[in-house]
Amino acid sequence: MSRPLVSIENVDLRYGGEGGTLAVSGLSLAVEKGEFVAVVGPSGCGKSTLMKLVTGLNMPSAGQVSVADEPVTKPVSIVGMAFQNPTMLPWRTTLDNILLPLEIVERHRVRLRAFKADYIAKAETLLATVGLKGFGAKFPWQLSGGMQQRANLCRALIHEPELLMLDEPFGALDAFTREELWCVIRDLHQDSAATGHPVTIVLVTHDLREAVFLADRIFVMSARPGRIIETKTVPFQRPRALDVMYTPEFNGIVHDLRALIAEARVQPAEAV
Ligand SMILES: Nc1ncnc2c1ncn2[C@@H]1O[C@H](COP(=O)(O)OP(=O)(O)O)[C@@H](O)[C@H]1O
Ligand SMILES: [Mg+2]
Repeated sequence: MSRPLVSIENVDLRYGGEGGTLAVSGLSLAVEKGEFVAVVGPSGCGKSTLMKLVTGLNMPSAGQVSVADEPVTKPVSIVGMAFQNPTMLPWRTTLDNILLPLEIVERHRVRLRAFKADYIAKAETLLATVGLKGFGAKFPWQLSGGMQQRANLCRALIHEPELLMLDEPFGALDAFTREELWCVIRDLHQDSAATGHPVTIVLVTHDLREAVFLADRIFVMSARPGRIIETKTVPFQRPRALDVMYTPEFNGIVHDLRALIAEARVQPAEAV
């Protein structure tokens, strides 16, 4: 058995030094290469903290985080990130915002200079995939919130990351758009497996149906300080159609997850 792509071992993270907020404690999980996992839990339990630990934006106070067999000691370059609030630079066009990660990561910067036209074509293909064909020349402030979130997703995908970290990326979207983008992500995951370069996806969401529709496994976190209290395996075959959401089995899993989180919410937090 190969080593997991992402491994978090017995991690604590306290913000603000001694006496500060213990966000996660005794947090452990492993994600295999090519897996699609979701993380759910009560609000404020440490989900975003978990994402920042894996991407190297936060360092643990105790325990170990590793990605692709390397201990995480600085921001990880094989990762694409899309966070809840799209942070597009207002003075750059949508297209130039999407190309931004290529300018930041050293090994892409050289390629970007040499193959700029190819990358622009790729960005335009991504824009079309998320329903934003022809919007590349617009500035972020000319796009609606939902459109900015779609563009944000393109930015996470432009450098074809091996690991995609999505922190509530569909939060502000209407129900139909959200389902559309679920299918975009589902297909992206599926297609990558077919090409032999499987993308691994970690999705934080408060939408339990989203988690069950998309993920192979779902980690449920306790209230703060967060740790994993349950791991659920989703039994549905791939490819999955949206129809699966109207089956009793699907609703049964959503129901179980809801009960676990409701229970976690009312449990008193451990002494901090
Ligand atoms: N930079 C920070 N400084 C201090 N406390 C923080 C910081 N970021 C998050 N927290 C606190 O850590 C806890 C977990 O936060 P977070 O990981 O954002 O939770 P979630 O994403 O599950 O809602 C919360 O109590 C939050 O207020
Ligand atoms: Mg969060």
